[in-house]
Amino acid sequence: MTMKLALALVVILPIAGCSSPDAENSPISKKNRPLVVFSQANSQDPWRKVFDADTQAAADKHPEFEYEMRDAAGDPAKQNDIIDTFMIRKPKVLLVSPTETAVEGSINKAFDAGTSVILLDRAIEGNKFTAWIGGDNYDIAKQAGEFVAKKLNGKGIILMIQGIAAATPTKDRRNGFMDVIAKHPGMTILQGNDCGYQRQAARSYMETFLQKGTAIDCVYAHNDEMAIGARLAWDAAHPTGKAPLFVGVDACQQEVIDMIKSGKLDATVQYPTPGAKAIEVAAEILKGNLPKEKMIKLPTVLITKETVEAYAAANPNLAK
Ligand code: FRU
Repeated sequence: MTMKLALALVVILPIAGCSSPDAENSPISKKNRPLVVFSQANSQDPWRKVFDADTQAAADKHPEFEYEMRDAAGDPAKQNDIIDTFMIRKPKVLLVSPTETAVEGSINKAFDAGTSVILLDRAIEGNKFTAWIGGDNYDIAKQAGEFVAKKLNGKGIILMIQGIAAATPTKDRRNGFMDVIAKHPGMTILQGNDCGYQRQAARSYMETFLQKGTAIDCVYAHNDEMAIGARLAWDAAHPTGKAPLFVGVDACQQEVIDMIKSGKLDATVQYPTPGAKAIEVAAEILKGNLPKEKMIKLPTVLITKETVEAYAAANPNLAK
């Protein structure tokens, strides 16, 4: 073989490979697909299990890009590392649900490097992101407050069990609720502890709280897991008798549906998982279409005993 012919083969072969009918499925073209990464705050609690599944299902419909998710297990330092490590592979889009605002460092770097950053559910303090997608936490809390005020006829004492102090939904779920209750001079809010959005932490906190014997008419928890924990503590301490109202946020799990039906929880407000919308936005960004709105709010709904059957029928993918 002459030198000229050998060179020509080297040049022609890869081109011939690209035009074969199987090119789309070949390992080479898969490797060359743009990368969309997702840094999840944690994959342990029910809401995030539904969120991960929704995101994966949506990504499966987009073979034109590579999708990868990693779980930070609730640790901001780990999440910063995950994002920095993702960035070595130059993703086109970074989806991130921050554990808390301390993850801003790696997010800012990713944005400055030219990656489109889509924040999901929790936000950061600064504005180095392309878009945020989630439920409107202030409005969710207002809906919870209006339900409680109506049920208690504008009178009573409410214990508010809080989420993670440095996670943005916590502030909004507190402020929206307090703004509604402030309109009712007969109502008081006791500021409960931050229980990290965790069932067990809320249960232990409630056990200690109940030992003080403070009378309460309602427990408003910043998510359903904590409302369940508080209710379990109440039931252990009061096997009989009238219970206060118990109200949470999320509406993503079968257990909550069952507890609303049986009257163990009085209401919850849906916190829609943003994964499917995030994948849709990412796919558009890859086509060159940046989102028109920076803050993309997903609709939410209050769920009570009256509406729980219809909600469950319309949402078959709840966590078991
Ligand atoms: C899950 C969770 C949800 C809550 C959201 C707030 O980690 O605690 O229950 O709605 O995060 O960011």
